[in-house]
Amino acid sequence: MAQVDTLDLVVLVALIVGTVAYFTKGSLWGVVKDPYATTYSTINGAKAGQTRDILQKMEETGKNCVIFYGSQTGTAEDYASRLAKEGSQRFGLKTILADLEDYDYDNLDKFPDDKLAVFVLATYGEGEPTDNAVDFFQFVSGEDVSFESGVPADEKPLSNMKYVTFGLGNNTYEHYNAVVRIVDTNLTKLGAKRIGTAGEGDDGAGTMEEDYLAWKEPMWKALAEEMGLEEREAVYEAAFEITEAPDMSPEDDTVYLGEPNQNHLEGSSQGPYHAHNPFIAPISESRELFNVKDRNCLHMEISLAGSNLTYQTGDHVAIWPTNAGKEVDRFLSVFGVADKRNSVIKVKPIDVTAKVPFPTPTTYDTIVRYHSEICGPVSRQFVSSLAPFAPDEASRAEIKRLGEDKDYFQERVASKYYNLAQALESITSQPFSSVPFSLLVEGIPKIQPRYYSISSSSLVQSDKVSVTAVVESIRVPGAHTVKGVTTNYLYSLKLKQEGDPNPDPHGLTYAITGPRNKYDGIHVPVHIRHSNFKLPSDPSKPIIMIGPGTGVAPFRGFIQERAALAAKGEKVGMTLLFFGCRNRNEDFMYKEEFEKYQSQLGDSLKIVTAFSRETSQKVYVQHRLREEAVLVNELLKQKANFYVCGDAANMAREVNVVLGQIIAEQRGLAPEKGEEIVKHMRTNGSYQEDVWS
Ligand SMILES: Cc1cc2nc3c(=O)[nH]c(=O)nc-3n(C[C@H](O)[C@H](O)[C@H](O)COP(=O)(O)OP(=O)(O)OC[C@H]3O[C@@H](n4cnc5c(N)ncnc54)[C@H](O)[C@@H]3O)c2cc1C
Ligand SMILES: Cc1cc2nc3c(=O)[nH]c(=O)nc-3n(C[C@H](O)[C@H](O)[C@H](O)COP(=O)(O)O)c2cc1C
Ligand SMILES: *[C@@H]1O[C@H](CO)[C@@H](O)[C@H](O)[C@H]1NC(C)=O
Ligand SMILES: *[C@@H]1O[C@H](CO)[C@@H](O)[C@H](O)[C@H]1NC(C)=O
Ligand SMILES: *[C@@H]1O[C@H](CO)[C@@H](O)[C@H](O)[C@H]1NC(C)=O
Ligand SMILES: *[C@@H]1O[C@H](CO)[C@@H](O)[C@H](O)[C@H]1NC(C)=O
Repeated sequence: MAQVDTLDLVVLVALIVGTVAYFTKGSLWGVVKDPYATTYSTINGAKAGQTRDILQKMEETGKNCVIFYGSQTGTAEDYASRLAKEGSQRFGLKTILADLEDYDYDNLDKFPDDKLAVFVLATYGEGEPTDNAVDFFQFVSGEDVSFESGVPADEKPLSNMKYVTFGLGNNTYEHYNAVVRIVDTNLTKLGAKRIGTAGEGDDGAGTMEEDYLAWKEPMWKALAEEMGLEEREAVYEAAFEITEAPDMSPEDDTVYLGEPNQNHLEGSSQGPYHAHNPFIAPISESRELFNVKDRNCLHMEISLAGSNLTYQTGDHVAIWPTNAGKEVDRFLSVFGVADKRNSVIKVKPIDVTAKVPFPTPTTYDTIVRYHSEICGPVSRQFVSSLAPFAPDEASRAEIKRLGEDKDYFQERVASKYYNLAQALESITSQPFSSVPFSLLVEGIPKIQPRYYSISSSSLVQSDKVSVTAVVESIRVPGAHTVKGVTTNYLYSLKLKQEGDPNPDPHGLTYAITGPRNKYDGIHVPVHIRHSNFKLPSDPSKPIIMIGPGTGVAPFRGFIQERAALAAKGEKVGMTLLFFGCRNRNEDFMYKEEFEKYQSQLGDSLKIVTAFSRETSQKVYVQHRLREEAVLVNELLKQKANFYVCGDAANMAREVNVVLGQIIAEQRGLAPEKGEEIVKHMRTNGSYQEDVWS
């Protein structure tokens, strides 16, 4: 008996050691910027008492390694927190995670040589930084970077600084990983010393996770050598202390049941509304845009009245989703907390720099339903971090294998589009009750708002935005159907608005009345994000718009605006739209509406359609664009703006190529010259893209 116990222990230790290399995807060490804390401090005026001096902050908290992230949708932030956790548990580094937006950079020349700075940076659009990295990027990529000490840029002011970089990008974009490349080059030029190779992860090839895993091992090795770090046996150390509060009930008015911050909890939600403080907006109208049974596309009117939120035609609205009841139930059962889902718990950081990614006290149900991205793709590294807590030997061995063998993981989990709970269910029917809940809070990314291109004109309806969203439903051969989190939530809101008291499309059952029924009467939490995707200020300028599928969203707003201007007697230039869908009778959204605009705008509106499934030969917008070469070139000569929007970056790429060819052919130029002109149009703002995948 004693022998067996010892053996168990040995196996367990071996497993832990074997999985140290892996760590959680998600939040630790202050990792997730606390949106709620920010909200309070902004409301109370300034980030009270928070230093913007990273060196001071590291000194005060006893840290020797700062991990900065530039992240838009949370991926870079997750990787940054994984590095922080691994550095701490495996190498004893004292790590601190830092949002680039929270610090100044002009004293980096005083960065001590026994400390380390890590930069994890995503790239967007035309090689641009994420919103939170704009200032930092301008600082290091500017012509006249200058530091506190006054040492000029060409005298290596950063010669004491050691750094590590990892970039996140998608190689199908022209400016692949441009931000991290420029940052790395410039830091080196400024005298800083990079440790390891400059890592780059590629979403385009679908290899982000594997690129990261392959990059970090040699990087740690080089770093350990450079800084004289000893690798040690790591055991899981919780970042958060989670305690149950049996004296409290979920009905207590101090318990968060999904309210995003204190104002919302106290029922006195107030502006300003932004990415950390959503407006609970009424949906004033919703309707279906498709004429088919098996696919849905929603048109929703969301009221901003009374919020002080403003938008301009071409901006984005962010929608804050909640998870489907079915998936919340699955997750809670898989981790053995279904019985106590409504118990009140308090979550406190153990490390002083860690921040709890949601307000507490709260409940298990709330954390899973409102704050965690439980349905997304599964991280192989995270799954393997669960091995020590598996319910039995067989599932432990299986999890270990999934962690070590990426092809096996691909076959068993990734190719099936399983989410975490589904993946674990497929391994064993036993619950994973020993997994510390803190590990889940740290490792599961926080749920992200989804962006939608506003499909209305602010000139026509300044206090109401409309959204055009296709309901995500992906049938995976031989497995289940993946249901998009946000769009199915919106879909059930629409069904409710149509009079269905308890909509449960596909048994998903969302908590559509929100925490404490605060979203009742069809409300959804939103904020507005301003974009550069804008109509020319002079309406007499011609425009060319390429918007297949839901890519037509912002162009409905553009056309709505131009029709209103024309009605006011303004001169409106040629408005040329290329729209594509499968079939004119099934998914030609806004068909009747466009007919109305056609009668209002007359010859100044031309809509060219491409129906891909009406003929044996598939026809797409880029083919129609080529057919209209003469007109397109003529309009460009009249200084037309050219816009591309859509969910297929392949389309955007092909359109870019075709436009270059049109210009070259029509003007009798060499093909490279056509490409060059398109490039120039991008830099001077006459070629604008709003693309997503
Ligand atoms: C700037 C911008 C503008 C946009 N504008 C619009 C718009 O106007 N209209 C519009 O319809 N959309 C738009 N989008 C897309 C939109 O933001 C959402 O991504 C989309 O609606 C899907 O959201 P969802 O929550 O329903 O799906 P999610 O749950 O986020 O799922 C999205 C996809 O992720 C993958 N996925 C999810 N779970 C898994 C899993 N377990 N394993 C593997 N893969 C998985 C699947 O491919 C799935 O289809 C825009 C995006 C951006 C960035
Ligand atoms: C709208 C959009 C534009 C993008 N533009 C680029 C780009 O120009 N270059 C690039 O390398 N990657 C680009 N990407 C890929 C992102 O950098 C990549 O998906 C990254 O993982 C996002 O990290 P985040 O979640 O931390 O914001 C783009 C992604 C999106 C959604
Ligand atoms: C940093 O990069 C930018 C753009 O690549 C360049 O213009 C700038 O001069 C660089 N600064 C230094 C100090 O190298
Ligand atoms: C990367 O971009 C391509 C097209 O440009 C797109 O199809 C793909 O979905 C993107 N990958 C991710 C993970 O965003
Ligand atoms: C809107 O702005 C006005 C004036 O600044 C302010 O008095 C009011 O409280 C604001 N309303 C909200 C909901 O923030
Ligand atoms: C932008 O560049 C293109 C190509 O060089 C040119 O034709 C166009 O006039 C420019 N537009 C503006 C607004 O400068």
